[in-house]
Amino acid sequence: MRNPTLPEELTVQVELPTIMPRSKRRPSVLRTEAQQAVESDPEIPNLTEAELIERIQHLRKERNAIILAHNYQLPIIQDLADFVGDSLQLSQQAAKTDAPLIVFCGVHFMAETAAILCPDKKVLIPDPEAGCSLAATITAEEVRQWKQQHLDGVVVAYVNTDADVKAEADYCCTSSNAVKVVQAIPEDKEILFLPDMFLGLYVQRMTGRKIHLWMGECHVHAGFRAEDIVNAMHAYPDADLLLHPECGCVSQCMFALAEGDLPQERTFVHSTGGMVRHVRDSSAPIHLVATEVGMLHRLKKEAPQKQFIPVKGDAICEYMKTITLPKLYRSLRDEVYEVRVPEEIAQRARRAIDRMLEVV
Ligand code: 13P
Ligand code: SF4
Repeated sequence: MRNPTLPEELTVQVELPTIMPRSKRRPSVLRTEAQQAVESDPEIPNLTEAELIERIQHLRKERNAIILAHNYQLPIIQDLADFVGDSLQLSQQAAKTDAPLIVFCGVHFMAETAAILCPDKKVLIPDPEAGCSLAATITAEEVRQWKQQHLDGVVVAYVNTDADVKAEADYCCTSSNAVKVVQAIPEDKEILFLPDMFLGLYVQRMTGRKIHLWMGECHVHAGFRAEDIVNAMHAYPDADLLLHPECGCVSQCMFALAEGDLPQERTFVHSTGGMVRHVRDSSAPIHLVATEVGMLHRLKKEAPQKQFIPVKGDAICEYMKTITLPKLYRSLRDEVYEVRVPEEIAQRARRAIDRMLEVV
């Protein structure tokens, strides 16, 4: 096998938007209200893990609730969920469930998407402060200002955005369908892609379309560097590489792929759901996983006979890990915290989400 050597410079031309992201203001989850509530609860601190699980099992039946969990959730939460998936799959599951109560174990924008798609259901999130550093890089007002500069622009908003940002968009997309969504937009249209610049660069490369990019990033994925990939590929020369398109090095890796410096047949850019499908089908015994480490639990369950190596063992999303067993129990017991989106915003956001769901 040839050794992968990646170019040091990002070779893709990026047009910087004139409006810069409001800040890199990351929501803090150090001591959330939900955390304090479970600690001071008269019952919860005295329950063992087994008792919590038993009560959760009882309540989910009694309330006819469905538990949805993202692939980055803590193993215990994934194991309890009715369905574990990527952002697109979770939206689709929410849209089709008959259960009157959805407990969404993921981050807030995901639960909001479920609430938008299921206006007649009650959607709960065990900790509403489970935010997202990427979603926090853009506000609805900033989208409106950006649109003013590109009056004919078509706005494609990654699902990692707040509901009022989605309401300003023409299309929503997730990491598993961003390329298809952009391909569905007429060639003569200018595209404003937000908020993830690395996913946007990847889509630009895959579609050949000229895309205006919002310069947002996820603090977990931005930390993946080309040298992390190179070192991992050196250490495991026969492994398949699974790369999330939010990773900071995705453009360099695409360039290296095109140059033949990364093996075409063993390098795969996938959403978290795409990674699951890949390991089910691939014959590779080892997979290098370049995304948040919660993914490893999911992949091991899918293919227990295979080996999964995290490219970056400290790639941990603290927002996803904010959802814990005691909080899940409290959420079901007290029916907290309900996620509601004002109807005027939900209606406009739903239009962008529905347009995405029509494409995939
Ligand atoms: P997926 O849609 O691939 O699950 O990604 C969601 C996310 O938040 C990645 O950080
Ligand atoms: Fe947001 Fe990044 Fe966490 Fe995904 S991993 S939820 S993009 S902060």
